[in-house]
Amino acid sequence: MEHIKLSVEKTLNFVDREEIFKYKEESEKHLTALHEGTGKGNEYTGWVNLPSKITAVELKDIQETANHLKERIEVLVVIGIGGSYLGAKAVNDALANNFDMLQADNENPLVIYAGQNISEDYLYELMEILENIEFGICVISKSGTTTEPALAFRLLKELLEEGVGKEEAKERIVAITDESKGALRTLADQEGYKTFVIPDNVGGRYSVLTPVGLLPIAVAGHDITKLVEGAKAMQKYTVATDFEENPALLYAATRNALYSKGKEIEILANYNPKLHNIAEWWKQLYGESEGKENKGIFPASVDLTSDLHSMGQYIQEGKRNIFETVLSIAKTKYKVVIPKDKGNLDKLNFLAGKRVDEVNKMAELGTQLAHVDGGVPNIRIELPELNEFYIGELLYFFEIACGVSGYILDVNPFDQPGVEAYKSNMFALLEKPGFEEETKKIKERL
Ligand code: PA5
Repeated sequence: MEHIKLSVEKTLNFVDREEIFKYKEESEKHLTALHEGTGKGNEYTGWVNLPSKITAVELKDIQETANHLKERIEVLVVIGIGGSYLGAKAVNDALANNFDMLQADNENPLVIYAGQNISEDYLYELMEILENIEFGICVISKSGTTTEPALAFRLLKELLEEGVGKEEAKERIVAITDESKGALRTLADQEGYKTFVIPDNVGGRYSVLTPVGLLPIAVAGHDITKLVEGAKAMQKYTVATDFEENPALLYAATRNALYSKGKEIEILANYNPKLHNIAEWWKQLYGESEGKENKGIFPASVDLTSDLHSMGQYIQEGKRNIFETVLSIAKTKYKVVIPKDKGNLDKLNFLAGKRVDEVNKMAELGTQLAHVDGGVPNIRIELPELNEFYIGELLYFFEIACGVSGYILDVNPFDQPGVEAYKSNMFALLEKPGFEEETKKIKERL
């Protein structure tokens, strides 16, 4: 079976093979700890065996709920923030037609997102457009108390109920939350919404293979069974494969070897705009998992070749504290051949007869070599093609590598204590009941 491939060859001008291999035993030990649930933060490692544990019955329930929504709506608004929406958005964008929003006859509802910002204009414009659209809501919050999604849900629930009535609104709202705790659970039970549970032992950013990711992905018309099969294949492969060939262990080891040499920023680069939101998901996964205790590689991303005309200068010649990980797709879905032009004013006839993807691949290779020459080590991840199976492999690969990498860094990759700081200041400033002391203190600082 073909898998996604990882190559670290182009880092070897910067770190020796031994510097990577010195993490061999440690990374193997961490992989075992993740599977056995014996490492730091082990109360949140339920995602490790998720792909092999998801049952056909669970997938059927998700698919049937998606079908139920599809019969009634043109647009699904996924309300959630952080790990409660990034995975679904990443997969949906990776698998969708780039111009879905312009296709009049979409057989699947368009999935859009809210609750990831507190922009009044965003919410106004969203509500304005939804007034004339048959829409449904998938509200996702593990804690059930996060402000951004709760605020968006309050507004959209009211809009939906006013538009179609309370009974029909109930048919169009699905809540994904904790089994028993939190305001969203209470509300969903009171209103009688269809609900799915986010398992206690799976944190937000590792939840894409639970209903959190799977329901919105199924509504968008993608094959969730294949996605899970891909993740399962990668689960098996990373357990059964020796360090030398194991993409997750090698990735975790290589990035830590580079980090120890002062390469503190990792840029995830893609050559296909569909992967933009895979990078957004990846940034949350790695940023929240590793950025703590004054440690961690800063995860950044670029879309190429577009950003070669903006960030390219910095990557080539700026401060040499970065390394680059390129996401490459071996085979395109479609074929576009460059035509010959009689006038040849653009002087591009030397490309006539070639596929556009050949140009893209040479841009990728040329950029990789230029960046390596400029002092930027390069890791390469290749997907045979962009489909559910390989996206499933990629998601699991990044997750398991992140767990191992966080353990090498000696942090708990499954908590996010730093996220609370802004919330507490915001509540103090908004004079939330219970925050009187904080309100007093923060006002003295203004
Ligand atoms: O990874 C995480 O745990 C976080 O990013 C959460 O997903 C995010 O804060 C949203 O939390 P909740 O689902 O509780 O609303």
